[in-house]
Amino acid sequence: MPGFLVIGPQKSGSTALHSFLQLHPNIVSSHPSRDTFEEVQFFSIAVNYKRGVDWYLEFFPAANESVTLFEKSATYFDVEHVPLRVNRLLPRADIVVILIDPGERAYSWYQHMRAHNDPTALMYTFHDIITAGADSPRPVLSLQSRCLEPGKYVTHLEKWVTQVTARRLIIVDGDQLKNDPVTVMNNLQSSLNIQTFFDYSNNLFFDKSKGFYCMKVRGKKKCLGKGKGRAYPPMNQTSVEWLSKYYKKFNENLKELLLKYGYTLPEWLTSELSLRS
Ligand code: A3P
Repeated sequence: MPGFLVIGPQKSGSTALHSFLQLHPNIVSSHPSRDTFEEVQFFSIAVNYKRGVDWYLEFFPAANESVTLFEKSATYFDVEHVPLRVNRLLPRADIVVILIDPGERAYSWYQHMRAHNDPTALMYTFHDIITAGADSPRPVLSLQSRCLEPGKYVTHLEKWVTQVTARRLIIVDGDQLKNDPVTVMNNLQSSLNIQTFFDYSNNLFFDKSKGFYCMKVRGKKKCLGKGKGRAYPPMNQTSVEWLSKYYKKFNENLKELLLKYGYTLPEWLTSELSLRS
């Protein structure tokens, strides 16, 4: 049984967290899936869920008590029935959520779709997509929804809090994961109650050519693949402002929710709200 789940959302840095966690000798990930690669996506995809618990548990290697098993499926965060399903099967598992500025997350998703030659993302600008009206073509509305909906963090987190109690939700600041992963990983071990401490400062380093932190594995440099940490132009100011207004209420409510349960606010949230107040 997994001891914890990394649930996303998509484009928040979940692949980096998944890779960094596996450097720890006592933390072991699920096996890759034939269909969905590093993610099992048991709780979020209906056909997988119907395959049942035994199918799910086959993704996890046999482990002794000194090992903590986990899986990362970034779609768990915002898919409707997942919190309830997770709570039923894994009532004791910790849940790790990574939060970045929702506007940046939206832009990263759009760039991800362009990089995958999605015709809609190639045909329309980011601003066209996020501001498209309800009478727009279906593919535009679908891409708009994939850009904007997951970033309504408070809406999704409320469902998780109801199901799993705030004590078991661990919030990681995605900006800090990007800029100071050693601190994030060192703190996360204590939040997850991992008994053996692994000092990440020996295994993570900033790589100038990648522009992101990479890992040192058996003396060799290992960065995430070219689909993670892509180079693309910065978002234009009009979209930055539009998104800031769009997410204002959601971000204010997120702040309230996090404070209510005693979480430290991510820095991007504090500065976003102070800029717009
Ligand atoms: P971009 O490619 O838009 O920069 P996910 O794994 O959830 O899909 O998230 C991808 C994002 O992780 C990347 O989005 C990047 O900003 C972020 N990231 C954080 N740390 C990273 C790292 N060490 N290497 C590459 N990407 C990292």
